[in-house]
Formats: sequence, C-alpha cells, structure tokens
Amino acid sequence: MLLSIRNLDVSYNTVAGTYKVIDSLNLDIDKGELIALVGESASGKSTLGQVISRMLPPVGKARGQVLLDGMDVLKMSEKEATNFRGTSVFMIFQNPLNSLNPVKRVGDQLLEALNVRNERSHRNLSDEESRREVLEALTSVRLPDPEKIMSRYPHELSGGQVQRVVICMALLLQPKLLIADEPTTALDVTVQAQVVTLLKDLSKKTEMSIIFITHDVALAYVLSDKMLVFYAGRVMEKGETLDLVKKPMHPYTAGLLASIPTGPKNKGRLYSIPGSPPSYLSLPKGCKFTPRCKFAFEKCSGSEPKSVMASNRELRCWLYE
Ligand SMILES: Nc1ncnc2c1ncn2[C@@H]1O[C@H](COP(=O)(O)OP(=O)(O)OP(=O)(O)O)[C@@H](O)[C@H]1O
Ligand SMILES: [Mg+2]
Repeated sequence: MLLSIRNLDVSYNTVAGTYKVIDSLNLDIDKGELIALVGESASGKSTLGQVISRMLPPVGKARGQVLLDGMDVLKMSEKEATNFRGTSVFMIFQNPLNSLNPVKRVGDQLLEALNVRNERSHRNLSDEESRREVLEALTSVRLPDPEKIMSRYPHELSGGQVQRVVICMALLLQPKLLIADEPTTALDVTVQAQVVTLLKDLSKKTEMSIIFITHDVALAYVLSDKMLVFYAGRVMEKGETLDLVKKPMHPYTAGLLASIPTGPKNKGRLYSIPGSPPSYLSLPKGCKFTPRCKFAFEKCSGSEPKSVMASNRELRCWLYE
C-alpha cells in the first residue's frame, strides 16, 4: 500500500467560526493506482490533496493518520516535509501558478525537478542531457517553442502554458504519488486527452499512483481505475470506475452521473441535482445529502450512516446498511 489514511478529520478555523470539512475519512491507495476524486464544489477535494501533500494552510488543522510511502505525513518535521514533497508526492495545484516559483525561470525550475529525480534514482546526466530531457518533456505536453518557454518566468506564460509546464514538472519528477487538482481545465479538449494519456502512460511505466481531482466526471471516467465520490467532505461511494459508472448505487453518485452531457441515461436532457450543498457551519444532522435526496426516508435525517462495503463498493448510505 502506498497511501493509507485512517480517521482523518480536517477543520478550518476562520473568522466565521471553526468548521469540520473532512470527517472520519479512510482511504487506501496502491502503487500504480489511478484514482479519480469527484464531487461538487466545496466538497473538500482540494483540502484532501493539501493534507496528503503536507500543504494545508495554517488555518487548517488535520487529525488522524496519513501514511504515505512509509512516512507519517501529519507528524513529520518541516524539513522532512520539504524533501517528501517532490519525491514521495507532488501536487499540481488547482491554480497551477501556485506550483511554480514566481522568481525563477521555468527552465531552471524544470531542471531542478529533473535533478531531484536524478539524485533519487542515481542517474548521472550531463547538463546537455538534462536540458534535452526537459525539452523533450515540454514537447510531450504539446508546448511549441520549448526553448523559449524555458527562458520565461511563470507570469510571462498563459494559463494553458502554465498548466502544461506544471504537468511537465510532474513528468520529470516522477513522484510516487501525483495529486493533480483540476490539471487540465485551461486546456482544449484535444490537448486534455493527450495529457491524460501521457499521465496514464507514465503511471504504467513507473508505477506512479495518481489522485486526479476533477468536477468533470467524463474525464475522470477516462483516467481512473477507481472513483471516489465526495460530498460534504465524506466519501459517499467508492468503487471500480467502470462498475460505478455503469451502476451507481449512492443516490448522490447517480445524480452526479445523470448530470454529465454524455451520460448514457440522460437521452439528451441535462439533469442537475436539486438544491445545493450544505454549509459546513450548519450541516444537516443525519446523512449530509438527505435534504437533496429523492430516496430519503425517516432514518436518513436521524443519524449519519457509516461507510459499509456492499457488492464490492464502499458506501455511506442508509439504503445499504
Ligand atoms: N484556506 C481555507 N480557509 C478556510 N476555509 C477553507 C480554506 N480552504 C478551503 N476552505 C473551505 O473548505 C471547504 C472545502 O473546500 P475545498 O477547496 O477543499 O473544496 P473543493 O472540493 O476542492 O472545491 P472546488 O471544486 O470548488 O475546487 C469549502 O467550504 C471551503 O470554503
Ligand atoms: Mg478544489
């Protein structure tokens, strides 16, 4: 097992009050696994990514156990965390500019990333060979004129270019776990497909695991082996992607899937789940999805269901207890 999370709670302490965003989360990810983390806005997807990569801002507090690549993420020192990021884990931030250093040229940052990997895997490359490898990686993410890109500072690039540079950094680093937070939103559909293929190939070649965070269930379907459906900081459903998409069991998953334009069941009509996600400051008492769930019955608003395994699926729903 590469990543093992037990009883993770994450809260934010803000002027509006303290609220718990992630609640008793358990998650295991194997080497080479491709996981999609899907869910509506504010469901806690980026928060989870930040916890795993030890990048949670100071207003956030994480409790529980997060073991990644043999390291106890919540307990390690700042110095250990610096080495851990980039080697064990690399996170492509939702705003990819945050993954780059604003005062260093893109080329130098990419060469540094390659050096981190070279040192780790005892590869001896000359300066010329390193440069060539960086240029090749830039070309592989379909960036034209890679020489010019290398000489630029991050703010001199367009959003789509920054996104591709950061993906390129992941390709050069080859971390054990890549957390990619909406990594292709600024790219057009063709480039998106190419990047997804590139990441999948790299994962196959190097056994890199990927947590792919996205709103886009259709893209998640193409990329992942397993899908994790988040709602109000809880895993509502987890299962093999093909199986889960074919036969969603949690009413929330069914609603999410029905709202994809290419979904098999919606026959041209676009569905959207009625209502909106609850505020973390006043979460409903029982299952957090109850107010929006068309299958809700008495028990649902009474107490919150626990995660259970049912037909090879992890589910948090009273329909399956
Ligand atoms: N730095 C922060 N300080 C206070 N609250 C935060 C902070 N970051 C996130 N939150 C809150 O935590 C909740 C989960 O946010 P998060 O960004 O993890 O959601 P998300 O699923 O990534 O959403 P999106 O799809 O919009 O990116 C939200 O209610 C958000 O307002
Ligand atoms: Mg997010």
